[in-house]
Amino acid sequence: MSTADRRGAPRHRIAPAKVNLALHVVGRRADGYHLLDMLVAFADIGDRVTWQPGGGACRLDIEDRLERPEPVPTNTSNLAWRALALAGRLRANRLGANRLGANRLGAASLAGTLTVRKELPSGAGIGGGSSDAAAVLRLLLEDAGIAEETLRIEALALGADLPVCLAGRPARVEGIGERITPVTLGAALPVVLVWPGAGLSTPAVFKARRPEFEDAVPDVAIDGLGRDPVTAIAGLRNDLEETACRILPVVGRALSALQASAGCRLARMSGSGSTVVGYFADPEAATEAAARLAADMPGWWIRAGTLQV
Ligand code: C5P
Repeated sequence: MSTADRRGAPRHRIAPAKVNLALHVVGRRADGYHLLDMLVAFADIGDRVTWQPGGGACRLDIEDRLERPEPVPTNTSNLAWRALALAGRLRANRLGANRLGANRLGAASLAGTLTVRKELPSGAGIGGGSSDAAAVLRLLLEDAGIAEETLRIEALALGADLPVCLAGRPARVEGIGERITPVTLGAALPVVLVWPGAGLSTPAVFKARRPEFEDAVPDVAIDGLGRDPVTAIAGLRNDLEETACRILPVVGRALSALQASAGCRLARMSGSGSTVVGYFADPEAATEAAARLAADMPGWWIRAGTLQV
């Protein structure tokens, strides 16, 4: 058999940008993790993850489409790499349970090349790394028969955003990120995502936040999402926005620039920043605003797109 025969067909998956419609900080666990109540949706903008099986060893290649201050790591600090390791372990355990020789088959299941084409900025609050990792788990475990609950719990150890990225659809997210309840968005939402040329570290933002806890997302807002999503989002908050603007003032400038754009109904930060999201009246207004902002701010990453229902 030739090498080409043994390699098999490549499999692809888009790892979409995760957008926080709301992020309420409602408490803190004894281990320091914050208890959150978030509403999350996914954009039609994302990285592209490809798994090419075969070749004997396991490799991670990054095809970076952006210029960044720091290169995307290709070692274990990359969540995609850690997701590969987790997928290998879960496959091995599963096959071991079937008495097929866990170690040998587990290792064989990881022979291949993972290529991540990076379109999303890092340190951005839109879950780039988490979404890549979720895509890796889906690609490598689609035929492994792992229970969703098991996958969610195991994935949470890679990062608090992993469970919702695995869900990949609009959801309410509670706990530290492990409780996922699907929600209905009344319409696909035209948006402009703006990463203002510098990233923020999630632990640094949580640490700098004033230690106060706010109210949860009210059920009436969840109902409102199904009718007029932007009005519902306008009644909610991102409790990390003020802190992010304080430690990285360009976040505030990006919010103001979006708010001043024609057709922008609302602008909010996503996650722990630094990406901000403008909600637009229609896709044409979003495209025009993105083009105008990009002309004014050459160092910013600016994309028009749609949040999927
Ligand atoms: O889970 P993840 O690696 O994304 O979290 C990074 C850091 O962000 C944590 O170590 C913690 O400091 C903070 N964090 C938190 N509460 C959460 C999620 C993250 O305090 N729910």
